[in-house]
Amino acid sequence: MQFARLLGLSDTARKKFFEAHGVNTEDAKDRFAERDKRWHQNLENAVFQKHLRFFDAMSLWSGDERLSFQFSDWDPHKQQNPQAARKVGKQCFGFAKSLLTDNFNVALIGEPGVGKTSLALAMLDTVHKAKRTTMFVSTMELALLFDQSIQYRELEGRINDIMTAMKRVDVLLLDDFGTEGGMKKDPRPVRKDMQDALYSVVNARLAVDKKTGKRTKSTIVTTNNSPQQLLAMYNDKLISRLIPKEQEQIVLFDGLEDVR
Ligand SMILES: Nc1ncnc2c1ncn2[C@@H]1O[C@H](COP(=O)(O)OP(=O)(O)OP(=O)(O)O)[C@@H](O)[C@H]1O
Ligand SMILES: [Mg+2]
Repeated sequence: MQFARLLGLSDTARKKFFEAHGVNTEDAKDRFAERDKRWHQNLENAVFQKHLRFFDAMSLWSGDERLSFQFSDWDPHKQQNPQAARKVGKQCFGFAKSLLTDNFNVALIGEPGVGKTSLALAMLDTVHKAKRTTMFVSTMELALLFDQSIQYRELEGRINDIMTAMKRVDVLLLDDFGTEGGMKKDPRPVRKDMQDALYSVVNARLAVDKKTGKRTKSTIVTTNNSPQQLLAMYNDKLISRLIPKEQEQIVLFDGLEDVR
């Protein structure tokens, strides 16, 4: 009955009514605003968690072993040349910070065991903590899936799902890109269906937001191969869209040794 009467009152009359009943309306307004804010935050968080689970399920780890690494785990003294290790660590940290607001491609190039995957994972960890979605794709595992799909046609559906996720995720890590092309000294062209699928992924990831004109996706690539070797494995259109041409977007792990 009281509520029904309240509905018909003007704002001023309602305020008077509340005050007459000892309710501080300013206080209540703040409390409602705070409650709404919390509700929105919870909703955003729930949506983000759902996306996380999706990209997590679509990630392809090498041998199904999930990896994690943070910048605080990076120890320059693991290397004979700690200065060189500190330099690549700083470069990757800088990129990770930029990836919170900007989108671009980065390539981490170097010999095996020098820490490329580790620093790339640390970059993913940083952007993930800032609530951007991330996905890890071992290129070798992806190539295996393509190989197996010849015999097991049902894998085609999984490959399509992975490709869709690779197009949509905010920050994609394409790990060990180029190992699927065989020996470094004698790189071979990668199977056509995988080339075509990857081309459509890297192309989609260059999309720009119509309003801001800025890119919306970033891709991190780790590789043992030089861009020239990658060109012997993949179509040049794919490589030119994936591997940055600007030297400042390439982290060279020169002067570092295998610490595996
Ligand atoms: N500076 C470092 N501090 C701490 N751990 C390191 C460092 N460098 C390498 N490692 C460790 O050494 C191992 C090999 O590193 P990682 O897998 O990152 O090398 P990679 O360059 O990706 O090698 P590959 O080309 O064979 O994939 C990992 O267990 C990694 O965590
Ligand atoms: Mg690696």
